[in-house]
Amino acid sequence: MSEVLAVAFPPPFTFGVSTSAYQIEGAVDRDGRGPSIWDRFSHTPGKVRDGSNGDVAVGHYDRWQQDLDLLVQLGVDAYRFSIAWPRVVPDGAGAVNRAGLDFYERLVDGLLARGIEPYLTLYHWDLPLALHDKGGWLARDTAHHFARYAEIVARALGDRVRHFATLNEPRCAAMVGFLEGRHAPGERSLPHALTAAHHMLLAHGLAVPAIRASANGTAPALRGGASTREPTVSVVLDVKPIVPASDGESDRRAAHALDGVFNRLYLDAILCGAYPEDVWEGFGSAVPAVAAGDLATIAAPLDALGLNYYTRAVVRHEPAAPYPGAVEVAVPGATYTTMNTEVFPEGLRDILVRLHADYVLPPVYVAENGAAFADTVAGGRIADSARQAYFERHLAALSEARSLGVAVNGYFVWSFLDNFEWGHGYLQRFGIVHVDFQTLERTLKDSAHWLRALLRARRGLAGRS
Ligand code: FCB
Repeated sequence: MSEVLAVAFPPPFTFGVSTSAYQIEGAVDRDGRGPSIWDRFSHTPGKVRDGSNGDVAVGHYDRWQQDLDLLVQLGVDAYRFSIAWPRVVPDGAGAVNRAGLDFYERLVDGLLARGIEPYLTLYHWDLPLALHDKGGWLARDTAHHFARYAEIVARALGDRVRHFATLNEPRCAAMVGFLEGRHAPGERSLPHALTAAHHMLLAHGLAVPAIRASANGTAPALRGGASTREPTVSVVLDVKPIVPASDGESDRRAAHALDGVFNRLYLDAILCGAYPEDVWEGFGSAVPAVAAGDLATIAAPLDALGLNYYTRAVVRHEPAAPYPGAVEVAVPGATYTTMNTEVFPEGLRDILVRLHADYVLPPVYVAENGAAFADTVAGGRIADSARQAYFERHLAALSEARSLGVAVNGYFVWSFLDNFEWGHGYLQRFGIVHVDFQTLERTLKDSAHWLRALLRARRGLAGRS
């Protein structure tokens, strides 16, 4: 299988692993970092299932060199990480904290010294708390503060980092944070969720040209290619196929409506400069004010599009449910992860093929794909064959999408390390590297050994050609 996959994804296809700041760093009060909405949320009783928080997380802030050495061991081409906005601009809008930037400078230099390409995400949900207390994502100003922060980071790191992503999963940040209340800031308001989504998209749109103007295009070439490279700017969206539970008209309509709320709202805005009419009609008076020119800003041309894929949703119409009137149903006989998501690799192919048909896509990379399973450590070994099979099947589906014409040039495993899984705390393990949450000791799981073998086989093939 490794040999087949190695052949299917020759260089310059990029293989990497992914993390985010709050989930791994810890050191929340070190070197001038300000608090974020996740610090407050995780410290609010009842919000995180195991009562935990990211104060320590997996101690990456102190162990980053060891972690980068593990990346070398894995043999990955690239590492996707996020910058904590409150480390760089502690109150979100004011003074720059040099010590915070320094941490990421060291990290980036450490990656480059090891021949690993940095993929930098600017926002993975850790909004500076001071900004939240001034309105946060409900305030239009926050979008401008984000663009300024993007500019600060691009100016500091743009001579070394080529791949910038603005936001990670604005859908999840807006809907799970402001409507479902399961993520920070923990609200339950549809108008607020839609306003937050609009302001996040605006933040993205304002940041794209700010990054291009501030990154100086001298990032060094890794693995061949031109010696100076313009920045590649993207956004990372979570997408999934929404499938009707039956052929009935009402189930099909409900699935289409949910697809609008989950997928098209963000894709249409970013790739076409318009919100989908059916979604806007469906939400009626809950939709936010959209100023003239906002959608043109949001649709700033992109160099790449990151997509996170985990699962699909099978839904039936529920007349009593608020718009879009769709509820998810379990699939008999299907395999589920411990996060209660169906393992459905074909969905990755299906969503890619569908987006390729419906939109003019920039080059795509899979920014996250992975699964939580209950791992057991036995004799120092973590035999996570279910996780390995998950990756193999998704890579096979990705290969099919590529042969059907979808331009996908990268794949990032979620996650490099076991970590703080948001509202689930430390109860869900996604890492290919096991972390003992007491000692913070790292151990490669079987899936990490598998990835390493795959990447080694691939290098062998490249060497031969
Ligand atoms: C995604 C998030 C990531 C992680 C995975 C499991 O939605 O981007 O931080 O929590 O899910």
